[in-house]
Amino acid sequence: MPYSQNYDVLIIGSGGAGLSLALKLADHSLRIAVLSKFALTTASTYYAQGGISAVFGADDSIESHIEDTLDAGAGLCDPEIVRLTVTHGKSSIDWLREQGVVFTEEQTASGEIQLHLNQEGGHSHRRIVHTADATGKAVSLSLIERAQEHDNIELFEHHNVVELITSAHPKRILGAYVLDSKKQQVRTIAARVVVLATGGANKAYLYSTNPQSSTGDGIALAWRAGCRISNMEFMQFHPTCLYHPQAQSFLISEAVRGEGGKLILPDGSPFMQHFDAREELAPRDIVARAIDHEMKKRGIDCVYLDISHKPEQFIREHFPTIYQQCLEFDIDITKQPIPVVPAAHYTCGGVLTDSYARTDITNLYAIGEVACTGLHGANRMASNSLLECLVFAERASEDILQKLPDILPPPAIPGWDESKVSDSDEEVVVSHNWDELRRFMWDYVGIVRTDKRLSRALSRVEFLKNEIAEYYSNFRVTSDLLELRNLVIVAELIIRCAQQRKESRGLHYTLDYPETDNTQPAKNTILTPWLPD
Ligand code: FAD
Ligand code: SIN
Repeated sequence: MPYSQNYDVLIIGSGGAGLSLALKLADHSLRIAVLSKFALTTASTYYAQGGISAVFGADDSIESHIEDTLDAGAGLCDPEIVRLTVTHGKSSIDWLREQGVVFTEEQTASGEIQLHLNQEGGHSHRRIVHTADATGKAVSLSLIERAQEHDNIELFEHHNVVELITSAHPKRILGAYVLDSKKQQVRTIAARVVVLATGGANKAYLYSTNPQSSTGDGIALAWRAGCRISNMEFMQFHPTCLYHPQAQSFLISEAVRGEGGKLILPDGSPFMQHFDAREELAPRDIVARAIDHEMKKRGIDCVYLDISHKPEQFIREHFPTIYQQCLEFDIDITKQPIPVVPAAHYTCGGVLTDSYARTDITNLYAIGEVACTGLHGANRMASNSLLECLVFAERASEDILQKLPDILPPPAIPGWDESKVSDSDEEVVVSHNWDELRRFMWDYVGIVRTDKRLSRALSRVEFLKNEIAEYYSNFRVTSDLLELRNLVIVAELIIRCAQQRKESRGLHYTLDYPETDNTQPAKNTILTPWLPD
């Protein structure tokens, strides 16, 4: 169905970040388009389990949440951004409740009803607001419903951005070319403001907890358009993804460890005490590395997470989704330990933004996992990501509303040119290269790195990049080809950032420089694209 191609604001992404921003702008008489590469719910947000960190506990404080975030971030967080984000925790949860999100509550001894708070790794207090173990589903469904009801928001599923459109002098964003993947047509969408809310790049790895949408498109789009990208070496591996031949990407929430779940070896013995005094509740980088170490040392395929010592009713009430999903694979978590392995989970780096989510290109913003705000530093603390989505949606909305009256509509933009391409006769090239890339990223650029492994990976990336560029210039674009073209750029950015860091810090661990360099102040890794003038 044809649709108007001029908007005030084009938001690329229907996850927590994109939809929150759309709703915050929608009451201001603006025309807003929200794009989703697949169905609206195919986004990491929908799959979030543990919850959203915010200070509600009587014994908790903003200062304590800040301190824990800085500590997990291993010296690289921007303290002002951390403070800004953490102080908006309560208002963000209140806003979500106004949108209809229902969080799990409990009754206190004195009969009061209050939010139930989970505990997760790195947090010194219970401060995770949640909806049982399916927080993301509750958030997504409410935000989608609100957006669908709003006359000023148009939602486009199965619309995949091919390229951002910018003007040269002065450099500003004008819109995007977008593939309607059901109709296989590329359309031009012009907008006064464009916002990247495309999520992470975790599908660059063979094993990931993420849905298929997380191919780092926003990072690659921004890089090609001329934005700086930062801290891509800090790819977070979640310690506990279900290990089962038929299970694809199913996470076992950190909240299971928060409620006393123990990590054990196949013989039943615990091991986290050998790695960190906080044991199972150490930050994620430490737990994932400990598991990786044990698996490699012992040649085992997985370790186990055991919560079966807790009463059955407690487990079924707190973790209904995990209980049910494991049962489908014949694992009764009330009686048996759960086989788990680490998997790529979160992209701490991304498009460099300031405290209003502005990128290097005028009127182009980036919010949510695609952005590198400075909140997470070298390692994101659990449940700080959804909070960041909400806070930076709010910050971007403030800036956009203030600036929009002075932003002119874009000039006429030429349509997408398909005159020199034909339909592909060798789709196998795309699927083969996709598999190869994710495998060498897992083998060479994973939890433990070396200089040699990184340069091996880079030479493969360079080969694939050329092959994909040739394919892209000869054939009509498809969704798979677009993703692969973006993934190979993201892989290169991860490797180049990793090569620049001559130390181990947070999520970046290399056998060649195993220590953190404390002789000088910690530095972000910032890559600047070279573009012809
Ligand atoms: P997403 O929710 O991933 O949304 C990205 C959107 O962009 C999608 O709609 C996608 O279709 C669209 N998109 C991407 N590329 C294109 C393109 N080229 N064209 C058009 N559209 C595009 N964090 C927490 O804080 N707490 C948790 O409990 C938690 N649990 C998690 C559990 C799992 C299994 C996973 C995977 C992540 C979890 N996280 C959690 C992390 C958190 O969910 C994500 O970081 C966060 O939801 C990202 O939101 P987002 O809006 O930035 O991106
Ligand atoms: C989890 O529930 O373990 C995921 C939390 C997060 O990634 O923040």
